[in-house]
Amino acid sequence: MNVALGVCGGIAAYKSAELARALMERGFSVQVILTAPAAEFVRPLTFAALTGRKAITGLFAAEDNLAGAIEHIRVARESDVLVVAPATADILAKFAHGLADDFLTTMYLAFTGRVVLAPAMNAQMWNHPATRENVRLLRERGHELIEPEEGILACGESGPGRLADPARIAELVASGAAPAPRDLEGEVVLITAGPTQEPIDAVRYISNRSSGKMGYALAEEAAARGARVTLVSGPVHLAEPRGARTIRVRTAGEMRAAVLEHLEESTIIIKAAAVADYHRADAPRTKEKKTAARLSLELDPTPDILAEVGNQKGGRLLVGFAAETDRLVEEARRKLESKNCDMVVANLVSMEGAGFESDENEVVLVLRTGEAIPVKRAAKRVIARRILDQVAKLRLALHSSP
Ligand code: PMT
Repeated sequence: MNVALGVCGGIAAYKSAELARALMERGFSVQVILTAPAAEFVRPLTFAALTGRKAITGLFAAEDNLAGAIEHIRVARESDVLVVAPATADILAKFAHGLADDFLTTMYLAFTGRVVLAPAMNAQMWNHPATRENVRLLRERGHELIEPEEGILACGESGPGRLADPARIAELVASGAAPAPRDLEGEVVLITAGPTQEPIDAVRYISNRSSGKMGYALAEEAAARGARVTLVSGPVHLAEPRGARTIRVRTAGEMRAAVLEHLEESTIIIKAAAVADYHRADAPRTKEKKTAARLSLELDPTPDILAEVGNQKGGRLLVGFAAETDRLVEEARRKLESKNCDMVVANLVSMEGAGFESDENEVVLVLRTGEAIPVKRAAKRVIARRILDQVAKLRLALHSSP
């Protein structure tokens, strides 16, 4: 597998040498592309020594100028994955808007494969609306982002902006690049993802911070492992997962209807959605006027879809999630029993950088045998892989039980 490793100009550029080595150790061939500012931070020779290949430093830097002019097309064709680490605010903006004024940006436009971006910058720059919008566009395009870590930055400020650990970036690249085992062939997997929105009136609603990333990662991974996948998704800003059929819903009621409609044909059900627990049953169709008086809303519980599926699951395998802020395993065990699940994926959503919205998660897989298997923090795609490893084992046990 060939990785094109783009390195941009930032203090974190020195960590890219470590990343190049980590990728080589995992069996990738690595072609490094340095932007002009990056070459000020780290010498091309460092990468040449590590990768055994001359680092590319510019569109016209090749000895043979004609070859140099089309070199970006060759690298785009030969690479399986493009990884950019550190990805500066500048490169995110250029990628988002299709600017192509150097080797890395022209190669990006000519590249049709998987893109993994590991941003690093000052916290204010990361939080700037322009950067947030560019990140949103790139995610919508299906690119994978490994969020910067919190900490003291080179500028002396603290906040999100440090390049993620090179070992974690390499692990994400490797997890998506390794051919997925085809151990879910013949299975029909129904997955729910994202939040639901429960109207309060014509323009207001109750919802939560779920981005859908966990459920979408599961859908993409299950499809890669050979399953036929139906994804029932609440409102999110993500590209449809490759290989899955996506059904978009808004409310808990709509999600319930879609799940029950596809239950019969399914062999595995995974409920990663953060379904709103309450709704306003008599929500008016008009916008309610604001007054100076205090407002009390009467809310009714939404249908508990997981419990309903648990009651009628028959021989199907049912995986629930539990989003908890305390007593993680205890609460997950309670849900496992009360909702008749075969496994509950428990995540401590109060943990910084995991759970809701984040690109990463850290979970405990709670099983009927009483086992509680911790899965350490990793990209949601890696977590999805670990969850489905366990699902495949449970499925095998179900098939082979008398
Ligand atoms: O979407 P992301 O930003 O990637 O974040 C991922 C996540 C944190 C949302 C995900 O990992 C997760 O924990 N999903 C479940 C969130 C949740 O609603 O947990 P809960 O403990 O409140 O619900 C337990 C289970 O019951 C869940 O499987 C849920 O889908 C299900 N449920 C809950 C309420 C309801 N009315 N119907 C349900 O089916």
